[in-house]
Amino acid sequence: MSQSSDTPTLRFSPKAVAELESLKTHYPNLKACILPALWIAQREYGGHLPPEAIAEVAFRLKRSPAEVQGVATFYSMYNTEHKPGRHMIEVCTCLTCHVCGASNIVAYLEKKLGIKMGETTPDGMFTLHGVECLNACDRAPLIQVGDEYHGPMDEAKIDALLERLRNEPESKVVALADAIVQVHLKEEEREKARQAAASVQS
Ligand code: FES
Repeated sequence: MSQSSDTPTLRFSPKAVAELESLKTHYPNLKACILPALWIAQREYGGHLPPEAIAEVAFRLKRSPAEVQGVATFYSMYNTEHKPGRHMIEVCTCLTCHVCGASNIVAYLEKKLGIKMGETTPDGMFTLHGVECLNACDRAPLIQVGDEYHGPMDEAKIDALLERLRNEPESKVVALADAIVQVHLKEEEREKARQAAASVQS
């Protein structure tokens, strides 16, 4: 393993640091902790993983940035290419959803939002993203937003969903990252992280 001798700018909050320290104890070595650490970073950096986030994870886990970058770019759930909108709408375009009308769903979303798949609306509200089977084919055509599945979708349901999401100030992308971090922690570890966050605010 190699590690950069330069200390990157560190942006993890005290809560994030406490969470990572707890997670390190769950794994036999620091390399095995890269995936959950990337979820923490995706939350802390506002829903994506810019090079600074990769550098911070690498530094905190004593790995090389190249190794962490390689892991992050292997999995589609980590946003390494660009910062997504507040809400990422992931449309399943796999076989069952395709047969059940996914292409119509894509076309309608693109028309409603005025963007193509892979793009973000100019106001930073929505990103459209195509994904492989989400393992809920009985609800085809299916879309995912944060930790919610929606389907079977039609135009009226898309209208209602977009309206609701527009009024939700919290980023579904960040909320999903946080939910995954919390799932990895035991209750006493979550409490420790809460206390670390509270100590800064007081
Ligand atoms: S093909 Fe879309 S959820 Fe399986």
